Formats: sequence, structure tokens, C-alpha cells
Amino acid sequence: MVEAVEIKSGRELKKMRAAGRLAAQLLEYIRPYVQPGVTTEELDRLCEAWTQAHGAVSAPYGYHGFPKHICTSINYVVCHGIPTPQQILKEGDIINIDVTPILDGWYGDTSATFYVGTVSPQVQRLVETTQECLMLGIAEVKPGGRLGDIGAAIQQHAQARGYSVVRNFCGHGIGQIFHTEPQVMHYGTRGRGLKLRPGMVFTIEPMINIGGFEVEILADGWTVVTKDRSLSAQFEHTLAVTEKGVEILTCLD
Ligand code: MF3
Ligand code: CO
Ligand code: CO
Repeated sequence: MVEAVEIKSGRELKKMRAAGRLAAQLLEYIRPYVQPGVTTEELDRLCEAWTQAHGAVSAPYGYHGFPKHICTSINYVVCHGIPTPQQILKEGDIINIDVTPILDGWYGDTSATFYVGTVSPQVQRLVETTQECLMLGIAEVKPGGRLGDIGAAIQQHAQARGYSVVRNFCGHGIGQIFHTEPQVMHYGTRGRGLKLRPGMVFTIEPMINIGGFEVEILADGWTVVTKDRSLSAQFEHTLAVTEKGVEILTCLD
């Protein structure tokens, strides 16, 4: 039987570690530019220039026709927001920046939700909870664990805070291809789903809404928004299952 989920070798993991670290460095590079008055077009331009200068390629550009180099998702935009010169960040906004450089053929996929200036305590609570959801999901990753354990941990925490988990988009296997098996749901049932094995590499990228989980896609064909226009936050890491547990590939050192 053909194995649906690839197991990466040590040599391949080394490549993914390099791509992942570069992705994490790119997010840190762009962080100080996230200020009131900046356009998402400018953030895109800066990220693309930095990526090129580091010998990498921006995976989103041209991916199924995506027109820019990063995704910029503001406030009620859930994911896949397109940078434009018309979008000017303002005090109190939140923005998810999702970057995926390809280094030497290998993909590193990570995102974070940033505050624009100072945000309200309610907004901070959403963003902090979303980051906690990601880390609780990661904590479930170990050999013998199940994909359902990850989803259950994320869903439990989000719903305990009164939030909902987006269902139409999920984490994914990644390597020399952007999106591959397995699909990593951010909700689910403990003990269910694919059994994890060392060498599996995938993302976890929960999108958490203050209101309902339903989403819609705008007329540009990309921008995903909450149906009720409630705020949405997201964080993403690329991870490897190791003999001992988990390694976050998109981290700094
Ligand atoms: N980086 C996104 C993810 O986490 C995918 C973006 S695809 C694009 O999977 F085409 F919108 F860029
Ligand atoms: Co991803
Ligand atoms: Co991403």
C-alpha cells in the first residue's frame, strides 16, 4: 500500500528546519513595520524583498493564482487576505501575517496575529487565546498520538473561552509541496484520526472567531471573512513529529 503521509528522513528534516527558521525570521523582521499608517502592500513589498535577499522564494505568489507574496488578514478577515495599497492599518486593528518562503525547494509556513498599536482587552483576549490554542495543539503531537487529539485540545480551549473554531480551513502536510496530506482539523475527537509517527511534518494553524464559525469568501475569490463579521485571529507553526515528541520547525534557533 502506498503511504499517504510522507515520512521525512533526517536529511530532509534538516532542510525543513532551515526553511522553517527562515520563515520565523521573516515574521520577526516584519513585526516592527506593523504600525498605524502602513499599507498591506508595503508589508508585502518588504517581505518579498527580504525573502529574495535571503535566497528564497515566496510560495504564495502565483499559488493557484494568488497575486501577492504574503497573506495579510485584518480584523474579521479569517485568512488569505490580499495585500493592497488601499489597506491602511489603523490603531486597534489586528492583522495576521502568513509567510511561506521556499528555501532550496523546501517550504516553511508560519503566521502570527499582530496588534496595530494598542488593542482593546477583548481583542487581546481573542489573540492570546488563539496563540494558546496553537500551543495546546502542538503539545498533543507525539508518536502514537492521533490527529484528533490536536483538534480536540484546540476546540476545547477555544470554546471554553466562548469562541468558535473555523472548520472550512485546516492545517496540512508540507515539505517540497505547499499543501499535502494529512489535513489537520482544529476541532475533533480525542483518540480519532491518523496515528502520528516520527518524521511526519505538518502545520497547525487554528483560526478562532469571537462569533460564529461560519465563513464566506469575498468577490476577489481569496479573502475569507467571518459570516457575522466578528473578529478572527490565527497563529501557525510547521512541526515535525520526533521520536520524543515534537519539534517546532518555524522557530528562531
Ligand atoms: N500560508 C497559507 C497556509 O497556511 C496558505 C496561503 S495560500 C495563498 O496554508 F495562496 F493564499 F497564499
Ligand atoms: Co499553512
Ligand atoms: Co500559512
